[in-house]
Amino acid sequence: MFDTMGRNINYLRISITDRCNLRCRYCMPLEGVERLGHNRILTFEEIARLVSIAARLGIRKVRLTGGEPLIRRNVCQLISYIRAIPEIDDIAVTTNGSLFYDMAEELRAAGLDRVNFSLDTMVAEKYHYITRQGKLEDAMMAINRALELKMDPVKINTVMIKGFNDNEIMDFADLAYNKPLHIRFIEFMPIGDLKFWNRGNIVNSSEAMSIIKKRYKLVEGRTIKGSGPAKYYELEGGRGSVGFISPMSNHFCGECNRIRMTAEGKLRGCLYDKTESDLMLAMRNGASDEELGRIFSSTINNKPDKHYMNTGWGNENHRKMYQIGG
Ligand code: 5AD
Ligand code: SF4
Repeated sequence: MFDTMGRNINYLRISITDRCNLRCRYCMPLEGVERLGHNRILTFEEIARLVSIAARLGIRKVRLTGGEPLIRRNVCQLISYIRAIPEIDDIAVTTNGSLFYDMAEELRAAGLDRVNFSLDTMVAEKYHYITRQGKLEDAMMAINRALELKMDPVKINTVMIKGFNDNEIMDFADLAYNKPLHIRFIEFMPIGDLKFWNRGNIVNSSEAMSIIKKRYKLVEGRTIKGSGPAKYYELEGGRGSVGFISPMSNHFCGECNRIRMTAEGKLRGCLYDKTESDLMLAMRNGASDEELGRIFSSTINNKPDKHYMNTGWGNENHRKMYQIGG
């Protein structure tokens, strides 16, 4: 389905839980996180029904996010429900990797196509610091497992934060050179726990790129499956790629192909726009597939032309990243 700007909306991101077993400083405060009760989140059957309705309207690609999606019990069941919807040709998850290693084979068997891992540093103490409780080794083992299982492409999300990990940009590029990994450097956005964010902490994509160019020749690459708003470059002679997601320095909204659904069944046209529609309420009040389909269509039709992150401020957004799913 095309929106009013001519964008082909074929990608639905679903946050299946707002809970997380880590507490990344920029994302969640340590305490005082309000948690949704079980009856306030969509069941797997409800999610599957909504995905099949969305699929009839042109959604082809689904990503499960959180919070941390792999902490939701029996998540493989949900993946197999979605796998059974014929129009859906790509199922991915975004995970911090902490639980992935042991679940990998089961996830694969349920129909998971690929994974994005969040990894902001490759120094164990820094990893523990930024996630407040994570172990770097768990994340690294998970990433290697995904490579072994050929969940191609395996992508890594690295949020660049000045003074924290900008000195590791080359290390990440080296990783992409040595392994078939696709590193996506993400500009730090004013969303999440804003106490940690400030404008001075942003590392622009162009700065990261010029660091990498000191060692590598960047070749504008073939498109990588699900490349969305990232600009990708291969490292000449290397195995993987580097990509740059530049929400702060460069509006990529013209190429945005996605809509988002929260764990509570709220449908959103944009990460950064407060407008949302309540699919759960409608469904639990007995709405038909056609009625629910109209909610999807109107969200697509009313999708904002672009985000206003640089003008409106983070506090405008009443939901956090862990509730919307990034
Ligand atoms: N800015 C940029 N990226 C963020 N993420 C979470 N919060 C922010 C932020 N404020 C990233 C996570 C994860 C992805 C879903 O979004 O690190 O990889
Ligand atoms: Fe959890 Fe991801 Fe937020 Fe970190 S960024 S606390 S891993 S949801």
